[in-house]
Amino acid sequence: MSTTFQLDTSTSRANPTPAPMKRLTVPAIRSRKQDGQTAEPIVMLTAYTARQAQLLDPHCDLLLVGDSLGQVIYGLPSSLPVTLDMMANHGAAVVRGSYHAVVLVDLPFGTYEASPEQAFASSSRLLKETGCAGVKLEGGEEMAATVSFLTRRGIPVMGHVGLTPQAVNVLGGYNARGRSEAEAAKIVSDARALAEAGAFAIVVEGVVEPIAVAVTEAVPCPVIGIGGSARCDGQVLVTEDMLGMFERVPRFVKRYEAIAEVISGAAERYAGEVRARTFPGIEQTYQPR
Ligand code: KIV
Repeated sequence: MSTTFQLDTSTSRANPTPAPMKRLTVPAIRSRKQDGQTAEPIVMLTAYTARQAQLLDPHCDLLLVGDSLGQVIYGLPSSLPVTLDMMANHGAAVVRGSYHAVVLVDLPFGTYEASPEQAFASSSRLLKETGCAGVKLEGGEEMAATVSFLTRRGIPVMGHVGLTPQAVNVLGGYNARGRSEAEAAKIVSDARALAEAGAFAIVVEGVVEPIAVAVTEAVPCPVIGIGGSARCDGQVLVTEDMLGMFERVPRFVKRYEAIAEVISGAAERYAGEVRARTFPGIEQTYQPR
């Protein structure tokens, strides 16, 4: 699906939110960290649909179309089966629903690791088909050449180190990383390699807090934490986790709502009214004039 479709105010159920405005840029995000300091922390959330993007956009600097959509939207067991088609479709929806935030789309497993050329083909497709501003990819030193290749060809890249969910089969699970000295040193050197290769920002996920701080202090570009530290340059959460959509709550998630209860309560009341024939009522039916 192409991004050439725009939200149409005459047919959309929702008003554009906020009013169309100048979008933030990747250089603007990068320059929020100056001389190792970020005066205003960077706010990032995941988004997968146009309406969700509309609601989050006014509050966020970055919207990430994460490959977490595999589990969150599609009910898959991990992010590994996520395809480039899925990312392109959801990426285009999120760009359509947003006016303010920088939109980034995750490169899914198997679409970039083989070579810089493969990564360029996948990333350029995402930029063309969605209108997103850049991509995120997982991995450290081994991805540095790819980050440099993409960046020098006009594709901004956000790195992702620490717990990298696409490597779950190598890591053996989703446990916090950086508990041994060797692992901690590797995470910091991975982040340095990505920053030197041109990554404009780096996600550090699921690491013990001192490592999140060490990574933040080690690189000149912004570091966005998830299961990291409040001392990172910004934070990201999976929106559905933050909204309380799921029963399982990882330690690093704070629930700001209990949306699952809201949805299931509404469905229960609706079902009761349908069965009692009290819905639709007079207000919801068309009467002869
Ligand atoms: O896929 C995703 O949602 C992510 C974030 C958790 C950083 O990579």
